[in-house]
Amino acid sequence: MEDIILDCDPGHDDAIALMIAVASKNINLLAVTTSAGNQKHSQTLRNAMSLLTLMKREDIPVASGNAKPLTRDLISGISMHGITGLDGATLPNPDFFSQGIPATELMAKILSTHQKKVTLVVTGPCTNVALFLSVHFELRSSIKQIVILGGGMGLGNWGPTTEFNIQVDPEAAKIVMESGIPIVLAPLNVDFEAQLLPEEIKKIHKIKNPVADVMGGLLDFYGMSFDHQHWNFKGLPLYDPCTVAWLIDPTKFESQRCNVAVETKGELTAGETVIDYYHITNRKPNANVLFHIDRQWFADLVIDSIKSFSTK
Ligand code: BDR
Ligand code: CA
Repeated sequence: MEDIILDCDPGHDDAIALMIAVASKNINLLAVTTSAGNQKHSQTLRNAMSLLTLMKREDIPVASGNAKPLTRDLISGISMHGITGLDGATLPNPDFFSQGIPATELMAKILSTHQKKVTLVVTGPCTNVALFLSVHFELRSSIKQIVILGGGMGLGNWGPTTEFNIQVDPEAAKIVMESGIPIVLAPLNVDFEAQLLPEEIKKIHKIKNPVADVMGGLLDFYGMSFDHQHWNFKGLPLYDPCTVAWLIDPTKFESQRCNVAVETKGELTAGETVIDYYHITNRKPNANVLFHIDRQWFADLVIDSIKSFSTK
């Protein structure tokens, strides 16, 4: 059983990552913290709470993170995720309250009291985790690992070589990457393989439960925002769930230990993850980088997770 805190910015693919985490018997979701990324922090908080309400998991504590990246203005993910961050589905109003403390303090509360080491899963910009590491230095040893959705080796989805989450807050990503805590990085190389095919999305539409209705609507909107022709993909890449999927079964991935550095200053490349795949520098590997995934297993995991929810 993996004890995790999910730091996310829902976001369509964040919603699917959260749904898989809630559904999995191998994951113990201790808390959800939210970041500014796909939408403003107030909206991603509301979205996370609506999703937990939908899944009847109001018992999971939730806290909102920083309003802005560490040093930059927020870039908005509105082009992919719409005005609410979760356009395409009707979500319930949250029927519980957030913890009323900052994300960093909820992380600290859990890490200082939990019996086991905790895995942090980051599916938005790294702002909250970077702040947490700076403020609560003494709690680092309570973190088992940090699993991050972000970056790419020679690939980008926001700039030619930059991925959205790292691009939003490169300074935060650099702090986390250089923290010395074990890192698992799921970059675009693996995310682009984690596709749902149109026939698999049709299967989701046939599932009869309230979570499936919402997931179906979200996938349709996300599919319309994603320019399949431009990317020449057969399916819809679902970035964020790669993190939770890896925790559920790492044997379904191919990975390699590499040094990953974050470019914060480059004129053309600020926000790029510089992944030393061939060990060309003498910088020590600091991350387990995921490169390939068993796509069919992944698609089945998404579908089976949705099926597992109650029909009421
Ligand atoms: C990442 O960017 C966001 O829009 C998604 O939620 C995901 O975390 C992919 O680059
Ligand atoms: Ca995200």
